[in-house]
Amino acid sequence: MCGIVGYTGKSSALSPVLEGLRRLEYRGYDSAGIALTLKPGAPLWVEKRAGKLENLEGSLTPDVPKSHSGIGHTRWATHGGPTDTNAHPHLDNEGKLALIHNGIIENYVELRAALEAKGHTFKSETDTESVVHLLSDARKAHNGDLAAAMRDICQELRGSFTLLAIHSDDPERIVGARRNSPLVVGVGDGENFLASDVAAFIAHTKRALELGQDEVVDITPSSITITDLLGNILPHNEYEISWDASAAERGGYTHFMLKEIYEQPKAILDTLIGRTAGLDASITSALNFEAVSKVVIIACGTAYHAGLVGKYAIEKWAGIPVDVEYASEYRYRDPSVDGSTLVIPISQSGETMDTLMAMRYAKTHGAQVFSVCNTNGSTIPRESDAVLYTHAGPEIAVASTKAFATQLIAMYLVGLHLGLARGVITPEFVTQMGDELSELPAKVEQVLETVEPLRELTRKFKDSSSMLFLGRHVGFPTALEGALKLKELAYMHAEGFPGGELKHGPIALIDQGTPVIAIMPAAGSLLAEKMASNVQEVKARGAVVIAISDGPVPAADHVIRIPSAHEFLQPVLSVVPLQVIAYEMALARGNDVDQPRNLAKSVTVE
Ligand code: M6R
Repeated sequence: MCGIVGYTGKSSALSPVLEGLRRLEYRGYDSAGIALTLKPGAPLWVEKRAGKLENLEGSLTPDVPKSHSGIGHTRWATHGGPTDTNAHPHLDNEGKLALIHNGIIENYVELRAALEAKGHTFKSETDTESVVHLLSDARKAHNGDLAAAMRDICQELRGSFTLLAIHSDDPERIVGARRNSPLVVGVGDGENFLASDVAAFIAHTKRALELGQDEVVDITPSSITITDLLGNILPHNEYEISWDASAAERGGYTHFMLKEIYEQPKAILDTLIGRTAGLDASITSALNFEAVSKVVIIACGTAYHAGLVGKYAIEKWAGIPVDVEYASEYRYRDPSVDGSTLVIPISQSGETMDTLMAMRYAKTHGAQVFSVCNTNGSTIPRESDAVLYTHAGPEIAVASTKAFATQLIAMYLVGLHLGLARGVITPEFVTQMGDELSELPAKVEQVLETVEPLRELTRKFKDSSSMLFLGRHVGFPTALEGALKLKELAYMHAEGFPGGELKHGPIALIDQGTPVIAIMPAAGSLLAEKMASNVQEVKARGAVVIAISDGPVPAADHVIRIPSAHEFLQPVLSVVPLQVIAYEMALARGNDVDQPRNLAKSVTVE
């Protein structure tokens, strides 16, 4: 939700901290703030502003003092509105300790009451401010040892947090901690970084360290110390980041979303490489597929829609019952789960709190956990028995596009592998589907070459109050995904329905001119005929129908042609025009494409 960055080293800290915030702004953009340390004992330099990072940048004057260490924060507000005062960093009453936080402190009310009773004065409405006061007292109790103080207070905090703190008396040091929220260390040469995500420091170093649950990290320009909450020193698990800074830049595109839409052929190819004939050995050796009698897919938003497509593929190819669950609902209904359940969390970020908590629930009840994730070293894969990494590269736009395409590919691969392992499908079928999958990058490329007319078409509906999406079979989750993209980007009412469900109620929504997008099943199939009837039904009630189809749709007002593909694979192609429509609609309505209102890329609170 929030983006966090810390820098200590030889450079002037303002520049890497601001640069880190720019790269992390996708995580939250309600306010931004920076704190820098100066000479030992000198007051901290702090600036924070409500609104986007550009507001903070605009407020910076050329006389920002030179500093070699600092922390920065971009906020997605939870407790307290997006104001200057509620923006992070928060300071202790002496103004010597600054703290930033991502997550939610669930016991902040009690903490605040106790701290106020001890004489602490609060300025903001945030849960975070309790932590800085608590840390201030703990630091004094530990004779100025900030890391020891951090370890102590983490044991008192409930909820989820990544915390970074600096103190004016020890200007080169930054201390961080994490529980259920991400924090990575960037290992530099005479400089070190802390951040929510490696994107913050990728331009400076490709060396990163993973930080585990309930760990505290203490960095200076020349040292990195990681401990558990009892102070035991833990070994470093260093890895090299596999992409470079250009992957996290717009590279000539007007928006990250557009770039990411166009990166889909490569993302699909990268996710398929070496896997069409079977899953990675690291997966097959870690899981006992023979013991599986039920699959449960848990995910949120777009990833949930990929899971719904996965249900069709896995049930058909592997003959195993599959439930697809909203992660936020799963653990609160005492689901039936045991050692014969294979739980598949799907997550681009690997940090979505709802998904993480659902997965932990399943794991403690004995399930095997096999995650599908796009972010190396993030919490969900770290806590899984096995992981299938999608290789979409960094996805920066809040609206997910290329991650969805690769999650679909992951679902197909899992379905084929399970089907083969269980003897439901033949090796010949797997080879045939492998060939079909391998053709997808070129077919997506073909779709992308023909989307230009969508620009004008979309603008025709820019003042519509609502848009409906219809699909059948795997076209239904695709319809849901199209509707989600439009809501998220165009702030327009949009809903996806199974074509056959319309007559049971939703058809009452159709009025003269209502735009309806129909995702047509493969031309010539039985379902294509049924869907053609659904198109006639809405047309008869005044709808304007835009069909996405691999064949002609005579009743539609507009047809967006896509190449033919195996019916299960069609969502990979049909979703592309839906992404483009949502993108164009956001532009037509003057909305912020990459950072839509009220949202954040990585939802690290429940
Ligand atoms: O990182 P995750 O895949 O776990 O995120 C799940 C959802 O929050 C995410 O897909 C969200 O729905 C997207 N912004 C939709 O475009």
